[in-house]
Amino acid sequence: MNIRQLLVERALVAMDAAGLPEGSNPAVTQSTRPQFGDYQINGAMGAAKKLKINPRELAQKIIDNLSVDDIAEKTEIAGPGFINIHLKPEFLSEKLVAANSDEKLGVAEHKVEQKVLVDYSSPNLAKEMHVGHIRSAVIGDAVVRALEFRGDKVVRQNHMGDWGTQFGMLIAHLEDQLNKGVDLEKVALADLETFYRDSKTRFDDEDGFADRARDYVVKLQAGDAHCNKLWKLFIDTSVKHSVEVYKKLNVTLKPEHIMAESAYNGELNNIITLLKDKNIAQESQGAQVVFLDELANKDGEPSVFIVQKSGGGFLYATTDLAACDYRSNKLKVDRILIFVDARQSLHFNQVELTARKAGLLREETSYEFCPFGTIMGDDGKPFKTRSGDTIKLADLLDEAISRATDKLAERESDMSDKERNEVARKVGIGAVKYADLSKNRTSDYIFNWDNILSFEGATAPYLQYAYTRVRSIFRKAGVDTATFNADIIINEPQEKTLALKLLQLEEVLDQMINDATPHVLCTYLYELSSLYMTFYEACPVLKEGVETEIKESRLVLCNLVAKTLAKGLDLLGIEVMEQM
Ligand code: ARG
Repeated sequence: MNIRQLLVERALVAMDAAGLPEGSNPAVTQSTRPQFGDYQINGAMGAAKKLKINPRELAQKIIDNLSVDDIAEKTEIAGPGFINIHLKPEFLSEKLVAANSDEKLGVAEHKVEQKVLVDYSSPNLAKEMHVGHIRSAVIGDAVVRALEFRGDKVVRQNHMGDWGTQFGMLIAHLEDQLNKGVDLEKVALADLETFYRDSKTRFDDEDGFADRARDYVVKLQAGDAHCNKLWKLFIDTSVKHSVEVYKKLNVTLKPEHIMAESAYNGELNNIITLLKDKNIAQESQGAQVVFLDELANKDGEPSVFIVQKSGGGFLYATTDLAACDYRSNKLKVDRILIFVDARQSLHFNQVELTARKAGLLREETSYEFCPFGTIMGDDGKPFKTRSGDTIKLADLLDEAISRATDKLAERESDMSDKERNEVARKVGIGAVKYADLSKNRTSDYIFNWDNILSFEGATAPYLQYAYTRVRSIFRKAGVDTATFNADIIINEPQEKTLALKLLQLEEVLDQMINDATPHVLCTYLYELSSLYMTFYEACPVLKEGVETEIKESRLVLCNLVAKTLAKGLDLLGIEVMEQM
């Protein structure tokens, strides 16, 4: 159990004994400054307000009933009724020694395993993945890794867009290319972007092409064998491209996680029938529409959610309703997390409301739309190439590696070329990922190469470098870190602050998992490295004259810092190295 949870339990008992009603919130938080102790119980203020009594007196009553002698050396009331808890160094030491001999660094598995479905990456296959696709992939993957680390059962779902009208023009163009004898794998689809552009040009300008494209969509949806074969060829090539990008990005999505839009084709008719039978959908100008009063505009007009087009065609919306049914009723998951651009928020609101009414989403399943902001260029506009084109994700990643290579060449090193290339790959990819993950998920952010590749500030290179520095101590000390453990003696304030931070990994992961926000882990790792630097300056480890016991205690702290950095970065999908 993490320290916060432990204090919540103790505080609840004390609040109960102090006569507070059940359900009172102890509001336990980490203290923001050492003078406020290590943790605070802030619940006295809220409870006192409700009962209209004096908060400080209530805080005293809670303290009188609080049993924390085993873990705290001091408790005190501050301000209007905060209760500050100063933890005992011995309590921290004991937990740290245990964490150091634990593969999971003292992070417990969830007692009750949850089944969590994570819908992420989910690109449209008509086009090549571009820079905007990085967010869903890396944020979703970090949350997936953290969930698994905490012992939850994760179902990865790549809800790829492989269906819809665009595919008519793409397969018509593909057919012509094939008929011309073009070798598909190598030429026509080598550059998906050009392929898309060419077919779009033909669609807009070439006589008869648009009609043929529309005809192909109808045929495709009716299951025509020829069109389906072309479609499959196109999809397979496009998927292959995405899989390469995942590999380069160190994202754990595999082909078996693909559950594309077309996978729901067979269910869409049933969904519409159900919505009609339950009077949830109604006909409007030939289309099937759900009117949602819950999302009415300020004039009281309900929000319009089209679930079937007037010609009978299905939409993105219909597929998402079918996906709700599959995920909640068939897979029976506890949570559904969907990582999608914030601009789709209305869509997911409409999906959830409709699906709940129709029983396509069970009450027990929580449906969590996890939006993210846009990546901006230095000019404050969505990030594009100089000429205004979209930036291909694969190109961006190659550029990251090449820039990291240049940057590392400025440093002295005795690594071989092969080692250097490997380091450059980890630094370049890590830099791009950390830059994205460390921002508050819902904000837009500016992408700037110099900032993200800097060795100073909150960046991947800074953290990777911090890791190599800690590791170099062990090389000097000649200690086998795998088995090394010793008693931890906490004397200096820098030791205590670092110790406390090390013990907060589980609390951070809980927050990251609950709110689907990897940036809290990014911040934590950055703070941990900074505290380590402060500790290292104040508390010599290998220096002559340091007593053996102290030296060993500090080595354990260093070891835990290294392991926590490596694990934390791994949960973000960022690799570390022993030298750089
Ligand atoms: N393919 C969609 C897009 O590129 C994202 C799909 C997200 N997931 C979903 N269940 N709708 O915008």
